Amino acid sequence: MGEGVDDAPAGGRDSRVVLLGPPGAGKGTQAQVLGEHLGVPAISTGDMLREAVANGSELGRKVESIMTSGSLVDDVTMAQVVQERLARPDALRGFLLDGYPRTLTQAETLAGILHEAGRQLDAVLLVDVPEDELVRRTLARGRADDKEGVIRERLKVYREKTAPLIGYYKERGLLREIDGNRPVEDVTARMLGVFGVG
Ligand code: AP5
Repeated sequence: MGEGVDDAPAGGRDSRVVLLGPPGAGKGTQAQVLGEHLGVPAISTGDMLREAVANGSELGRKVESIMTSGSLVDDVTMAQVVQERLARPDALRGFLLDGYPRTLTQAETLAGILHEAGRQLDAVLLVDVPEDELVRRTLARGRADDKEGVIRERLKVYREKTAPLIGYYKERGLLREIDGNRPVEDVTARMLGVFGVG
């Protein structure tokens, strides 16, 4: 995908990929493995924000209560976070974004960042899982925002703010749908199949 084999980095090729899906679908789980296979960094905005909270940074103090309530951090803050991260050297030849974009505004921001760099997305993988299973998985994990009421709120926010991205990326011919309600290894294999790997 992307710029072709000639200028591909050793052990991989340029891949600019977004993982889309509801909370608990397995985006983070898959991002790590897939990133290694594709030779690009897996970038989780949720992990970046949790790290900021743990460090007590200005960003962390700003987002902590938003995250524990299950709401979304505002688009302007997220644009800064993502723009800075994608400008780092390890992301110049590709990335796997987990948790961004989550709103149509964020999708336009990402398109703008890539356009300025003369790049574009290669694929958006939609991982879907039935709601009961999402609740079961997240409750079993028990992160700070994995309490039942907060999970229901995160699912509602997903349906309202993030699900419209499915149509947005479908229209652009980028969407690939993956059944996430299968064993982890099966989901990985299906994702790798999208890139002709495995
Ligand atoms: P974020 O960290 O992105 O949370 P999320 O989208 O709610 O996703 P999760 O981490 O809950 O689920 P996942 O799909 O990654 O699944 P996972 O692999 O972990 O965001 C957290 C918060 O940060 C947001 O609510 C918001 O406040 C803020 N935020 C982040 N990005 C933002 C943005 N762009 N804009 C605004 N705000 C933003 O798996 C879940 C569990 O299931 C694990 O225990 C795992 O072991 C298990 N599991 C995974 N796959 C399988 C499988 N196939 N079978 C059985 N179990 C599985």
